[in-house]
Amino acid sequence: MPQTPPKTAIDALVFDAYGTLYDVASVTAICDSHFPASGAKISEIWRQKQLEYTWLSSLMGRYQDFWQITAAGLRFACGALKLELSEETFRLIMENYLQLDSYPEVPAALEGLAEKMPLAILSNGSPEMLIKVTQHNGFNRFIKEVLSVHELRIFKPAPQVYDLAVRKLGVAKEKIGFVSSNAWDAAGAKAFGFQVFWINRFDRHPEQLDLPPDHEIRTLDQIPPLIF
Ligand code: LAC
Repeated sequence: MPQTPPKTAIDALVFDAYGTLYDVASVTAICDSHFPASGAKISEIWRQKQLEYTWLSSLMGRYQDFWQITAAGLRFACGALKLELSEETFRLIMENYLQLDSYPEVPAALEGLAEKMPLAILSNGSPEMLIKVTQHNGFNRFIKEVLSVHELRIFKPAPQVYDLAVRKLGVAKEKIGFVSSNAWDAAGAKAFGFQVFWINRFDRHPEQLDLPPDHEIRTLDQIPPLIF
């Protein structure tokens, strides 16, 4: 008889937000409408710069919230591409960040998982950003806690950020399944001691930090067979 692999014992699931539940590339359309044919490039540079600024601000001990960091990333992306960003266009594109789409399988996957265990978001996003995008997608029904780094004034992958989930959920870290598409975030969560599910949607190369995830899958709907 073939052996069934042992299931991972999990009491709560904690999700990264941007890039995992919410599609950061969904800003491409509005960027394209203001800067024809440059939307994808803006989106790509914007996201990368946004992440770099989180790491820089943490290392420099100069916390700015994720809204400010995201705004700085957008200004950088347009500037680097020599695109003139009016204040009106800046405002319209930034507002779109509060209405990001989720990836297609996410609503049904969260609904199914929420029936079995508590679900939380743990994100770099500022509380207001997270509340708005979560409401926009109607996920409040499934998510018990929306946790932001904001109260700690430092970004992922600082270990105290992951510890926030342990403290707020009252679940031991070994029993928390942490779900992220961001490979560096998955590595940070593994270093902290979570059970890690890396959602490798776009067939990215794994990080080479000796912190492999416990599970590498493509979409959220592949989680249930691993834990139930
Ligand atoms: C977040 C970033 C990593 O949601 O996308 O925390």
